[in-house]
Amino acid sequence: MSNVKFYKEEQIPLEMHKVRVVQKLILLPVEERLKKIQEAGNNTFLLQNRDVYMDMLTDSGVNAMSDNQVASMGMADDSYAGSETFNRVKSAIFEVFGTEHVLPAHQGRAAENILAEAYVKPGMVAIMNFHFTTTKAHITRLGGEVIEVLGKKGLVPVSDDPFKGDLDLDELRRTIEKYGPEKVAFVRVEAGTNLIGGQPVSLENMLAVADVCHEYGVKSILDASLLQDNVYFMKTREAQCKFMTTKQIYHLLADKMDIIYFSGRKLGFARGGIITSHNKKYINDMMEFIPLYEGFLTYGGMEVRSMEAMAVGLLESLDMEYINQGPEFIGYLVNELDKYGVPVVKPAGGLGAHLNCSEFVPHIPHDQYPAAAVATALYIASGVRGMERGSLSEQREPDGTERYAELELMRLAMPRRVFTLSQVKYCADRIKWLYDNRELIGGLQWVEEPKVLRFFFGRLKEIGYWQEDLAKKFREDFGESL
Ligand code: F0G
Repeated sequence: MSNVKFYKEEQIPLEMHKVRVVQKLILLPVEERLKKIQEAGNNTFLLQNRDVYMDMLTDSGVNAMSDNQVASMGMADDSYAGSETFNRVKSAIFEVFGTEHVLPAHQGRAAENILAEAYVKPGMVAIMNFHFTTTKAHITRLGGEVIEVLGKKGLVPVSDDPFKGDLDLDELRRTIEKYGPEKVAFVRVEAGTNLIGGQPVSLENMLAVADVCHEYGVKSILDASLLQDNVYFMKTREAQCKFMTTKQIYHLLADKMDIIYFSGRKLGFARGGIITSHNKKYINDMMEFIPLYEGFLTYGGMEVRSMEAMAVGLLESLDMEYINQGPEFIGYLVNELDKYGVPVVKPAGGLGAHLNCSEFVPHIPHDQYPAAAVATALYIASGVRGMERGSLSEQREPDGTERYAELELMRLAMPRRVFTLSQVKYCADRIKWLYDNRELIGGLQWVEEPKVLRFFFGRLKEIGYWQEDLAKKFREDFGESL
């Protein structure tokens, strides 16, 4: 994407890359799609990718690599200890964040496991703007509790607030004082904030959070998995960032936050995970867990070729031409849907477009999982695979009662540089059709409900025959079309 103004044509995001390797896609007929989603237990995680036309499940580990990333993989130094590849990862991290100390892990949640093992003890709390599924699971597994201090605006699906991921600073102070700093395992800032629609956190807010943490002597941790999109939003939405370089922003954050970790499947467009800090003390707290759970200190369970790709990808995440593709394609999709009246989370965030299913299908109650129902309906209508980010993605309370999500979202993640704009237009078109036929969508009920992270592999059943009716209506409206 670049600053290119169109003369006569509609203003659209213009790619600053070209495609040199392609993968064939298959779009199954609607009757087949109906069969496949039912066979998959109405869980889009359980679909086979060969049955999916646009895979918008996630942007994790599925982004298109650059030619330089692919080329770098041939340089990998496959040694168990002291690999030159790790030194290249370290220097890329030093360039991007300015931090000297680095621990490798096999992916983001592995880094979360290490952080939780090192700092969470029974009865402690971890304070954050909003939980992420795997983060929370690791903290609660160790007897800790997650307390969210997201600003009130964060849960308003439609607003013109540019930074809905911001923490409520007063609430943060109150929470630290309520539990006492010694009971606070850490304060975690997730930038951008995954489960509320990839919404960003402002630089101003993040720096203020770090100050509060220092004042109380509490550790501050930045989950930088989605930071690339967040930096794009800081540059484009926050006055003080406009004239800062991306590198200045990354460095400033690393200078203020005690520990940074991220999923290399997102930041760096590769695979793996990283924990980094200026402070050797924190690294020492966590170091012993790396050989125990991950692998030796110079690979941490990562494959060396992926580490090379991560090193190059991290350097590329300093380049606005490189990091703006995701947010601008997402912005395009959100805008197309919004113009038609489809309820979407606004303003557009990073990660993907998010349908607000409480409004899309208000007739489906929380306990019939409206967002999961819309995800199955969209697959039937289009072969597009999205992901439920609502009550189904929550875990039950310790007493077994449901914890209903504040936002019932269906996420359409935008893998970077993977889809063309015509595919994004197709996706928008089928969502518009589904919205016009929304009264046909019904609920889901459990068949097999796993105890932990149930959304990954739980199986559900449609209530009644609404999916057959939807497929029939598709045939009536689209005739022979796929
Ligand atoms: N933190 C955030 C903010 C994430 O979005 C993710 C992953 C993780 C941590 C965990 O990293 O997958 O490498 O173990 N999000 C993916 C998603 C799974 O689809 O949103 P991981």
